[in-house]
Amino acid sequence: MKKIEIIIRPFKLDDVKMALTGLDIKGMTVTEVKGFGRQRGHKEVYRGAEYQVDFMPKVKVEVVVDDPLVKQVIDAVSNAARTGKVGDGKIFIIPVEDVVRIRTGETGQEAI
Ligand SMILES: Nc1ncnc2c1ncn2[C@@H]1O[C@H](COP(=O)(O)OP(=O)(O)OP(=O)(O)O)[C@@H](O)[C@H]1O
Ligand SMILES: [Mg+2]
Repeated sequence: MKKIEIIIRPFKLDDVKMALTGLDIKGMTVTEVKGFGRQRGHKEVYRGAEYQVDFMPKVKVEVVVDDPLVKQVIDAVSNAARTGKVGDGKIFIIPVEDVVRIRTGETGQEAI
């Protein structure tokens, strides 16, 4: 099992949601976040000069899936979230040790 943590541009959330709900995912968590990448929140990198770091509004989408679904999720999200410009976001793939479905007490893959 993997947790796929996806940081995207806020206006891409609907497209990403549609791409993901087209797959056999069992759930999704969405959070409004702020962050910066290589450009540190700026459109261009200024050589050597000291400058402020700006946090940019982003949306974080988290989905936990069984391993066979990971590639489909990455492909679908990448296509849905890409504009080709800096700041399109990132996908982090994190191993998940276990899952507990609180209502039923199921664990592991069945609990996803
Ligand atoms: N290494 C990182 N660790 C944690 N969060 C990150 C990291 N890189 C990017 N992010 C998050 O993803 C958002 C978008 O990052 P962004 O797409 O600008 O990455 P980048 O490496 O600068 O790529 P690009 O050059 O395409 O802009 C950031 O605002 C931040 O929230
Ligand atoms: Mg960037």
